[in-house]
Amino acid sequence: MSRRAIVFIAMSIAVSVSVAPAFGERRDIDLHDYDDDLMRDLDKTIKYFEPDITARNAQGALDDAAILQDGFKYTADYFAKKDNAEDAVQISKDGLKFVASAIKSVSESDFDAAAEAARGAARTCRACHDTYKPLKKQ
Ligand code: HEC
Repeated sequence: MSRRAIVFIAMSIAVSVSVAPAFGERRDIDLHDYDDDLMRDLDKTIKYFEPDITARNAQGALDDAAILQDGFKYTADYFAKKDNAEDAVQISKDGLKFVASAIKSVSESDFDAAAEAARGAARTCRACHDTYKPLKKQ
């Protein structure tokens, strides 16, 4: 197994441990100032991210990655200011790691590894929503 594969697996395990929320324990957080427009941009972008990678559209994938990075930075900062939202900050950091790993792999033209990282980034969106997104919006 290559060193990169090992690092990736270790990272995936770390992420799946840290994003596993206490199920059923939905957090009640005041989200009145949350940036829903940004979320909708992220939603469009995440849909293109893996297809851009598998199409070997490196520039497109890097553009997507930049938007996703801004998004995960926003959520990390946003939830860092809230009480009882440490997992949301950790999940956001996990998302940033996946995006960074995708960028690195795209730059090395390793599109398989990049696609795997893109799927990891998409999982981190859902991991946060499972605990933090109000049910009415699901
Ligand atoms: C750390 C937490 C977190 C992360 C990471 C996160 N979200 Fe969200 N997202 C939320 C919360 C909380 C809401 C609900 C906001 C509200 O109710 O105002 C939301 C709402 C949304 C919505 C609905 C917006 C609307 O129209 O009301 C979409 C779409 C969405 N997120 C997409 C994404 C995508 C795509 C990603 C990943 C690239 C992502 N989110 C990452 C927490 C997160």
